[in-house]
Amino acid sequence: MKDNNDINNAPIHVAIIMDGNGRWAQAKGKKRQVGHKQGAKTLEKICKQASAYGIQYITVYAFSTENWARPKDEIDNLMNLLRHYLKNSLKNASKDNIKVRVIGDKTGLDNDIINSINRLEEGSKDNTGLQLQIALNYGGRDEIVRTTKKIVADIENNKININDINEDIISKYLDTKDIPDPDLLIRTSGEMRLSNFLLWQLAYSEFYFIDKHWPDFTIEDLKDAINNYSNKERRYGGV
Ligand code: IPE
Ligand code: IPE
Ligand code: MG
Repeated sequence: MKDNNDINNAPIHVAIIMDGNGRWAQAKGKKRQVGHKQGAKTLEKICKQASAYGIQYITVYAFSTENWARPKDEIDNLMNLLRHYLKNSLKNASKDNIKVRVIGDKTGLDNDIINSINRLEEGSKDNTGLQLQIALNYGGRDEIVRTTKKIVADIENNKININDINEDIISKYLDTKDIPDPDLLIRTSGEMRLSNFLLWQLAYSEFYFIDKHWPDFTIEDLKDAINNYSNKERRYGGV
């Protein structure tokens, strides 16, 4: 059910570290993969509601460059879930008018997954509702390394001059180019760390931590996070 009552000053861009899928499942005596599956459903639910709350962009952390350190079983399972999710996403994206973009190092993913991502990005590019960015094989430090290489290559090709480099230029070379930095970061499951997410972009974001595991996160929780954000005074170093 959509409702947008009593939301003022909503964040334009919300970043989410969807953490706690494994613990959610384990607490129920189930395999971690059950938690990942439920987590994907939570994401769909949140995306459906976000626009009604005034949110224009959501960036979610789905798989980090460090997550390859997990057991092969879990990684295989996550990749298969991703295949399934990507296949359904085009349908859902059209239905809900969502534009999807994947950020992170796609070259590290299997070819069929890269193809599905390209199809989804291409197929949803004209949608005018929520812009969903999914961080896959994403690490903030890795993004900065890849960005640096792109900038150096463009200097070598005389496309830009070294003296042109400023914060705006760097933002334009990041995976998140063309969209504003997150206003609000939400992390579920109690951990208060960034785990290498959007290191550049979160410089002045408000942080909201909630103990609940991601599969249990509801649209009411999203509303609480937004209301909490709305009452903050953002100073950006001023007074
Ligand atoms: C987040 O849940 C999803 C991914 C990292 C893929 P976790 O898998 O990290 O779950 P916990 O934190 O171990 O409970
Ligand atoms: C961050 O969660 C990555 C994602 C949610 C995809 P992790 O569970 O991997 O982070 P740590 O290991 O607790 O720092
Ligand atoms: Mg975790």
